[in-house]
Amino acid sequence: MNGLKDARALLSRSERLLVFTGAGMSSDSGMTTFRGKDGLWRNRTAEELSSLAGLRSHPELVWEWYGKRFVAQEGVKPHQGYTALADMQRRKGRMPVVTQNVDGLHQAAGLTEVYELHGSMATVSCLDGCGFRGPFRRGMLETLPPTCPECGGLLRPDVVLFGEPLPEGVIQEAFRLAGQWADLLLVVGTSMLVWPAAGIPWEALRAGVEVIEVNPEPTALSDATGVIWVPGRAAEVLPGLLGT
Ligand code: APR
Repeated sequence: MNGLKDARALLSRSERLLVFTGAGMSSDSGMTTFRGKDGLWRNRTAEELSSLAGLRSHPELVWEWYGKRFVAQEGVKPHQGYTALADMQRRKGRMPVVTQNVDGLHQAAGLTEVYELHGSMATVSCLDGCGFRGPFRRGMLETLPPTCPECGGLLRPDVVLFGEPLPEGVIQEAFRLAGQWADLLLVVGTSMLVWPAAGIPWEALRAGVEVIEVNPEPTALSDATGVIWVPGRAAEVLPGLLGT
C-alpha cells in the first residue's frame, strides 16, 4: 500500500480513528524536537536534563533547561495541522488523541479526549512532598530553581521524567484504544524510540489495525507491513490528508 490516495481512502472510511503524536507534531509551531537535527538533546543526555536524579542533583541546570522550553512555548500557536485534526475529530464525533507531548497544543487547538502520556508543562508540583500543585507561572523562573510557595521545597514540572512511571492508567488506556478500539491509527511526528509509548503503533498492527505515519524522515515503523508512510511535515501534510 502506498501514498496519500490510499491513506485518504482509509481515513474517510475509518469509524474509530485513533491519533498518536510526538514532538514532530509541534515542530511546525516552533517547538524544537528532541532528536531531530535541531533536537534539544543534541548536547546533553536526556537523563542529565530530564530525570528525577538530574533534578535533585543539579536543579538549577534542569530548571534552566525547562525554563527555556516553557518560555519558548509562550505565544506558540497550534499550526494548521492541529486545526485539521480538530476538524476531523468534529466530523468523526469521537477521535481520541494519545500524545507524548507536554505542550498542551492539541487542547489549545480545540481537540478533546487527549491522553498525555508524558504529563504536561501546564502545572508544577512540590518535590518535597507537601502536596502543592499549581499552574506554572513564568515568574517562577525569576529565581532558579523555583521553590514551593507552601513549604519552600523544590518545585518540579509535572512532566514524566526519565526513570519515572507514566501516569497511572493512561498508557494502559492508550494500548487498549490501539489494540481493541481503533480501526485505524494515524501516527504523526514521533521517532518511535521512547518506550512504552513507542509500543502503541506496534500494538495496533498486532491487532490488525492499519497505520498511517506522517513524518519527513523514515522510522522503524515506516516500512512495516500494514503501514502507509506519508513523507512530509505535519503542517503541510495533515490539511490535505484529513481534509474533506
Ligand atoms: N512534522 C512531522 N514530523 C516531524 C516534523 C514535522 N514538521 N519535524 C520533525 N519530525 C519528526 C522527526 O523526524 C522525528 O521522527 O518528529 C520526530 C521527533 O522525534 P523526537 O524528537 O524523538 O520526539 P518524540 O518521538 O516525541 O520523543 C519521544 O522522548 O525525550 C522524550 O519525553 C520526550 O515525549 C518525548 C519522547
